[in-house]
Amino acid sequence: MRKFIARALKKLPKLDKAQIHALIYDLASENEQLEVVLNSMNDGVIVADVEHYVLFANKAAERVVPVAPGDWYDRVIWDYIQDPDISSFVRETLVNQESVMDREFTLDNNGFTRILSCSIMPLVRNGQIHGSILRIEDISEKRGREARLRRAESLASLTTLAAGVAHEIKNPLGSIGIHIQLIQRALNGQGEIDREAIENNLNVINEEIDRLNKIVVDFLFAVRPMDINLEERDLNAVVGDLLEFVQPELEQAGIQLERSFEPDLPTLNLDEKHFKQALLNIVKNAIAAMPDGGTLRVASQLSGEMVVLRISDNGVGIADDVLGKIFEPYFTTKDFGSGIGLTLVYKVIKEHMGDIAVISEEGKGTTFTITLPIPQKEQHLLSWKGEDDEV
Ligand SMILES: Nc1ncnc2c1ncn2[C@@H]1O[C@H](COP(=O)(O)OP(=O)(O)O)[C@@H](O)[C@H]1O
Ligand SMILES: [Mg+2]
Repeated sequence: MRKFIARALKKLPKLDKAQIHALIYDLASENEQLEVVLNSMNDGVIVADVEHYVLFANKAAERVVPVAPGDWYDRVIWDYIQDPDISSFVRETLVNQESVMDREFTLDNNGFTRILSCSIMPLVRNGQIHGSILRIEDISEKRGREARLRRAESLASLTTLAAGVAHEIKNPLGSIGIHIQLIQRALNGQGEIDREAIENNLNVINEEIDRLNKIVVDFLFAVRPMDINLEERDLNAVVGDLLEFVQPELEQAGIQLERSFEPDLPTLNLDEKHFKQALLNIVKNAIAAMPDGGTLRVASQLSGEMVVLRISDNGVGIADDVLGKIFEPYFTTKDFGSGIGLTLVYKVIKEHMGDIAVISEEGKGTTFTITLPIPQKEQHLLSWKGEDDEV
């Protein structure tokens, strides 16, 4: 309570009518000021008492979330909110006396998708719970910005990629040019035409054309917009599938597979096809890094709001000065490498809102660590499970 009000209340019995009038006026105008502040916010704020009746709802609340027609007085908060998903979420959370931060909901608004983020917190005064506050934020714009940023990022990497292609095609083009000149010279020259030499030149030209073709095909593969289709998937099952697929190749290379999967992982949003392709690229690199055999370790683990997938080999490792370049398009240390494998891995993981990191020691081995976010819905389930465990 404001100090001046507390003081005034103490003196209340001694105040005359005009002074009480003034006090009430002050209180009312202060209240109004608070209301103006709350009403000018972009986020919807709904305050409820301990019995969950709405005490206050700001203007933005009505704008952000569909509410029942009429006034908010005398209504339980979940009756006031009309959207069935949000309404039942609010009810469940309040009845169970939970606090929830940033739970996301997708609303269809006349064909436009809107994403709302809802938080419910207790309203605490003097160490006691007096009700609850529901904050609803429209994060559609923010999400749109994030998507645009991701696209801009991939456009930037496209520039690097294009520069890479330009660099890559220089050598074969140069070589083709030289061999054509040699053929021309042979044809224009006097005397016998050395068929064998010309055939040789043509063979080189053919090889270089194959190389050019491969560069272009790889380039197209890398720049083609990824048609990512995220669906709820069990990560362990997807990884297990892929490992089964490469098992014969591992055996042939004398590589032991050690897997340690955390059981009962929450389901993740995965594009199974692309994710498997990314894993395959990492595993193929690992196989190439262990020419004399070795051990491939694959481990999944729950870590807070993320799931972590680690893929380790005990192969040749990566030199420190090279480590920063391995995700770059066309970077390869192999004679016949494309340098596209990890570029694609990076792209796929980013499309999954995940991250990828690598640590390596020369002669010891390399570990790729992929982190993937757990979808909001699953996080909610997790916190429920956690509570069950405590009982
Ligand atoms: N597990 C690994 N061990 C050692 N080096 C690796 C490993 N994975 C990737 N690299 C390095 O990163 C480079 C780029 O990999 P990638 O993009 O898949 O292209 P490529 O396999 O065609 O060379 C490889 O040439 C290699 O030098
Ligand atoms: Mg590769």
